[in-house]
Amino acid sequence: MPFSVELREKINQIISKSETRQSALIPTLHAVQREYGWLPNECMSEVAEILDIPPASVQNVATFYTMFFTKPVGKHVIWLCRTLSCALRGAEHVEHYLSEKLGIHTGETTTDGKITLLEAECLASCGTAPAMLVDDELYENLTRKKIDELIEKLKKD
Ligand code: FES
Repeated sequence: MPFSVELREKINQIISKSETRQSALIPTLHAVQREYGWLPNECMSEVAEILDIPPASVQNVATFYTMFFTKPVGKHVIWLCRTLSCALRGAEHVEHYLSEKLGIHTGETTTDGKITLLEAECLASCGTAPAMLVDDELYENLTRKKIDELIEKLKKD
């Protein structure tokens, strides 16, 4: 799976700004994931080759951080916070509502491939709990109305 010229250029920029090839790994994995939506094995092998680091190091980093997907996910990913403040402010009800609305359980992707629902640790928005991250955007003080509007928006995208 050879990377596109654009992605190779992006990775070269990352390498040129990094002190070591190893320190270029995380930003490189982000760049690759942005391009493919997840990190297939062939992509991780190519990253190892480009950065000249062992493939096992790439695998270890990709599987350690929850922000990296080593299996396909939906076009949009909902990270629902289940840590204490959000739990105390109804995250469980939000999760049930989302599951019901999307027709999936946490950890699954809708059949149209649009939305994956995952649990997250604290999103640093405890004062506005319950909170969730949708792709890179934070949604706070969640209500059924807000969730309805958001899901409609994501489904149209
Ligand atoms: S506990 Fe949910 S944002 Fe902190």
